[in-house]
Amino acid sequence: MTDFDHHALRSAFGSYMTGVTVVTTRKASGEPVGFTANSFTSVSLDPPLLLVCPGKFLSSFESFATCTHFAVKVLSEGQEDVSNTFANFKGDRFADAAHHSDAQGSPLIDGTTAQFSCAVERFLDAGDHSILIGRVQSFTHVGGRGLGYVGGQYFSLGLERAALDPGRNATICGVIIRQGNHVLMERTPKGFRPPQVSLPNRGILRAELAEAFAKRGLPIRLESAYSIFETSDTRYTYLLATSDAAPSTAVEAVAVDHLTKLNYCSRPVSDMMARFALETRERAFGLYLGDAERGDVHSSVERI
Ligand SMILES: Cc1cc2nc3c(=O)[nH]c(=O)nc-3n(C[C@H](O)[C@H](O)[C@H](O)COP(=O)(O)O)c2cc1C
Repeated sequence: MTDFDHHALRSAFGSYMTGVTVVTTRKASGEPVGFTANSFTSVSLDPPLLLVCPGKFLSSFESFATCTHFAVKVLSEGQEDVSNTFANFKGDRFADAAHHSDAQGSPLIDGTTAQFSCAVERFLDAGDHSILIGRVQSFTHVGGRGLGYVGGQYFSLGLERAALDPGRNATICGVIIRQGNHVLMERTPKGFRPPQVSLPNRGILRAELAEAFAKRGLPIRLESAYSIFETSDTRYTYLLATSDAAPSTAVEAVAVDHLTKLNYCSRPVSDMMARFALETRERAFGLYLGDAERGDVHSSVERI
């Protein structure tokens, strides 16, 4: 019998980029139930089939194992809160999510990119999960960008592209490089800052960015966008990354607990690193969008 390290296997599976869906049905009593799922897959056009994998650990598992109908909603960019509610909240998950019922009574959530109302075609046993195959009875597709998920974090193509769009002005791309409980920081005469590169006006692709750091002896694995803001003449984009590279003369490894004690090159960088220190403790990273003074942190989660 193969006995893999479950944590390592989960991470490897989690490197596959997916969208995020919410799968719903009703209990025999009529009460709506649902869970967040990224195991959604389209299966067949003719007949129209899709599948999703409910875990046997779900409190609603019996409802999905015995239902005749269910619905799948593909979440839109910005619906992280809906995803979090249907993954974590233990109370009435539908209380805050505007919803209505499809013809078969399955709950549908408003504001999603696409929704599929299904009749159960097959329900197959598969280890600690099951495979629920549905035959699409009806669907809606309003378009727009879907919410993305990879490596235990949400991402949004729109935001990531915006982060790497050619700016009108100078564009600086910095990387917050995590290394265990430390972060690799660059010491400059004005103060500390995450290692950064100036981007050409046409912008830069993620692969090129990683290559630029590798050339400086800093091989990194890029993760999600972390902070995007503009000052009067410069657009700043910061991404998260990890690296196994040994600290060099160019970068110093600073313990996350010490980040709030450093002097930084600018106020926005200081604010960003304070948020990073806090969010590292809370194990939940958001994405800041705004200018140097005002903006919003878009919620995101990192599952451990
Ligand atoms: C992005 C994401 C994707 C998930 N995908 C699945 C999945 O495909 N199958 C599954 O059973 N649980 C999945 N989960 C976990 C469930 O959503 C979570 O365990 C469930 O909502 C817990 O419900 P319960 O409290 O009713 O047991 C996922 C969670 C997240 C955040």
